[in-house]
Amino acid sequence: MSQGFLALILAAGKGTRFKSDKIKVLHPLLGKSMLRLMVDSILGLKPQNVYVVVGYQQDDVMEEFKSDEVSFVVQKEQLGTAHAVLAAKSVLKKDMNKDILIINGDLPLVRPETLKPLLALHRKERNSLTFLSAELENPKGFGRVIRSEGKIRVIEEKDALPSERKIKEVNTGVYLFKIKDLLSALPKVSNQNKKGEFYLTDVTGIMAREGKKIGFHKTMHTGEFVGVNSRLELAKAMDVLRERKIKNVTEKGVTVLDPRTTWIDLDVKIGADTVIYPSVIIEGHSVIGRGCWLYPFTHIRDSRLGNSVEILGSTLIVESLIEDEARVGPFSRLRPDSIVRKKAKVGNFVEMKSTEFGRQSKAMHLSYLGDTEIKENVNIGAGTIVCNYDGKKKHKTVIEEGAFVGSGTELIAPVKIGKKAYVGAGSTITKDVSPGALAVSRSKQVEKKNWSQRKRKK
Ligand code: UD1
Ligand code: CA
Repeated sequence: MSQGFLALILAAGKGTRFKSDKIKVLHPLLGKSMLRLMVDSILGLKPQNVYVVVGYQQDDVMEEFKSDEVSFVVQKEQLGTAHAVLAAKSVLKKDMNKDILIINGDLPLVRPETLKPLLALHRKERNSLTFLSAELENPKGFGRVIRSEGKIRVIEEKDALPSERKIKEVNTGVYLFKIKDLLSALPKVSNQNKKGEFYLTDVTGIMAREGKKIGFHKTMHTGEFVGVNSRLELAKAMDVLRERKIKNVTEKGVTVLDPRTTWIDLDVKIGADTVIYPSVIIEGHSVIGRGCWLYPFTHIRDSRLGNSVEILGSTLIVESLIEDEARVGPFSRLRPDSIVRKKAKVGNFVEMKSTEFGRQSKAMHLSYLGDTEIKENVNIGAGTIVCNYDGKKKHKTVIEEGAFVGSGTELIAPVKIGKKAYVGAGSTITKDVSPGALAVSRSKQVEKKNWSQRKRKK
């Protein structure tokens, strides 16, 4: 079916029930804003153009999208859904003989597959309007679908009679219109209703009176149409997306031991044979390789892991890279721009920031490594601290291949430890150490014989 159609997403409203300083449609669900999810879904139907009606916080909304994906029309005041569509009048006039799909901006769970039958039916029946209805156990808050004298129309809940409120078939907020018929009906919509708004749904009554053909497709996928109006509905929608994502990664060969406590953002990629333990969170644009093991309470954001990487429990990794067969954790923290090279080991209570940690190097316990370049086969002893900050500026530390840094060392940056050099435990290193040398900088131990005995006698 190559017949082109336009798409219009209504997203100008604030979303008052969210009680947020941020417009509702920019709230994220598993790493994507509500509106981004909707745009992606609509793009899946391959419309000729996608328009978004913006108003409240319009600059923030427009910033989210590339100009080649969607175009924007501005509704200055939010006077209702019909008024929102009128904001697009000038673009609609250019395509009078086409159809337009109009959809509310608060339906982040809608999948393109669910909308396809609506498009097909609209074309088959050559309707002026075909809308998507759904039979809901709890129809509260929705417009109801009314049938009388062989005609079909939608009435808003606030304006419905008690008997009409008992109807369980609702308007989902998705419509396909013949543009010509839509434009002729829109100016006839009034705001003489309980909310004082111009309702798009009133077009159904107007068209019915004028003898226009109205059809509907009743969807089975009712769960996709719980409009997200409150924070609780946001949480419920996230749960649906979370389950979808977990189903998707498991189908690609990932083991998820406890789907109920695992959070994987929608854009995350994970290789086959990776095993994910309970309570793992993977966010943003993270990419996890094949055969990795992610133990409980691992939290990864916008990072890349190679293959066969092991992340032991309670480890936080942000904007970092971990290469094949490396092991990190438990209780490690990798801050942005950390690189852990192949087969390296980073152990408990080790923190890194802007640090490259070389192949097969080890830092097993209690260290801080910031702005540091560590080459291959380096051993960082327990409690090593890189003092990279002098109160004003950050300085760099370089530790060359095969060097051994003893426990409890402080490296005062900028400083360099040469190839295969040794630093004695407990040293404070302020000057470069030459390759192969041993540097020790601690005071000599003194011993006072029988000191405690003498003390007690006093
Ligand atoms: C709407 C429908 C209702 C349907 C329900 C499904 C109308 C009048 N009612 O009600 O029949 O059952 O959706 O979820 O359409 N918007 C604008 N400009 C405005 C007003 C709204 O762009 O002036 C946008 C909102 O940002 C939102 C969408 O239109 O994304 C729907 O508006 P909303 O107020 O949420 O409508 P509902 O009361 O949910
Ligand atoms: Ca709504």
